[in-house]
Amino acid sequence: MEVGFLGLGIMGKAMSMNLLKNGFKVTVWNRTLSKCDEVVVHGASVGETPAEVVKKCNITIAILSDPAAALSVVFDKDGVLDQICSGKGYIDMSTVDPETSWKISEAIALKGGHFLEAPVSGSKQPAETGQLVILAAGDKALYEEAVPAFDVLGKKSFFLGPVGNGAKMKLVVNMIMGSVMNAFSEGLTLAERSGLNPHSLLDVLDLGGIANPMFRGKGPEMVKDNYSPAFPLKHQQKDMRLALALGDQNAVSMPVAAAANEAFKKARSMGLGDLDFSAVYETVKLLKHSS
Ligand SMILES: NC(=O)c1ccc[n+]([C@@H]2O[C@H](COP(=O)([O-])OP(=O)(O)OC[C@H]3O[C@@H](n4cnc5c(N)ncnc54)[C@H](OP(=O)(O)O)[C@@H]3O)[C@@H](O)[C@H]2O)c1
Repeated sequence: MEVGFLGLGIMGKAMSMNLLKNGFKVTVWNRTLSKCDEVVVHGASVGETPAEVVKKCNITIAILSDPAAALSVVFDKDGVLDQICSGKGYIDMSTVDPETSWKISEAIALKGGHFLEAPVSGSKQPAETGQLVILAAGDKALYEEAVPAFDVLGKKSFFLGPVGNGAKMKLVVNMIMGSVMNAFSEGLTLAERSGLNPHSLLDVLDLGGIANPMFRGKGPEMVKDNYSPAFPLKHQQKDMRLALALGDQNAVSMPVAAAANEAFKKARSMGLGDLDFSAVYETVKLLKHSS
């Protein structure tokens, strides 16, 4: 199977490498073209523009930072819209708001193309090992066609119905995750400041009803102040912002998520946006120190 792949950030690089490892022919494009070199070494071809990739491949996958990037790659000069047509499919796996997905979907449909949104749950390591959870919505026939690729990229894929449902599901999941990360950061700080060993807290948490892979994986690194990015904090804050907008549209009061969003904004203002989202821990440590 031949696929195009737009966006070679943390996720895109791991996912395109995985497709190559599993025998897919992959043509890649990245805004910073030099980032294509590493995947080319592993057998990928390069397209000079998104349009060139879409022209070459019947299915093109994208995973880009945010709504602005997702829209730019589709609508700008030499973008996806230039070459999308009947018989071609575009799958956007970026985390965006439903409105962004609807805009892209409508424009692609007007050109006779097929569109699927398919944001993913899971971070750098699941992307590397093909263990993502894929939250697809949109064109069912394109979904069926993409299942061989989804089977390589993920441990499970869901088809959630019309365009927008994948984006909404992803935002709900990340809103919960961002809120939990803040509670976890406060707990670690409280343990440490009140004289407990934070490693003992991690051991206790891991044996109880709120044990989870995020605490298990990130906890020991946070205690060491290691925030090497798997999921950049700036993207987590974008997801909180988009989830709060979804809450706004649906009149859902979300004070916990709103407070978590403020903490991520604070972390960004401290210059921590490119670090892992667990660096929000630093905002709690700082605030407690200054009081
Ligand atoms: N990392 C995770 O754990 C994770 C997990 C699930 C979902 N996601 C979501 O997946 C998406 C990608 O995340 P990531 O962690 O891979 O991000 P990343 O490492 O920051 O990569 C972002 C990608 O978007 C491209 N980009 C940014 N602005 C652009 C623009 N205006 N035009 C064209 N390309 C643009 C970047 O190109 P350059 O290289 O040129 O900057 C890069 O390829 C985000 O929506 C994120 O929320 C991430």
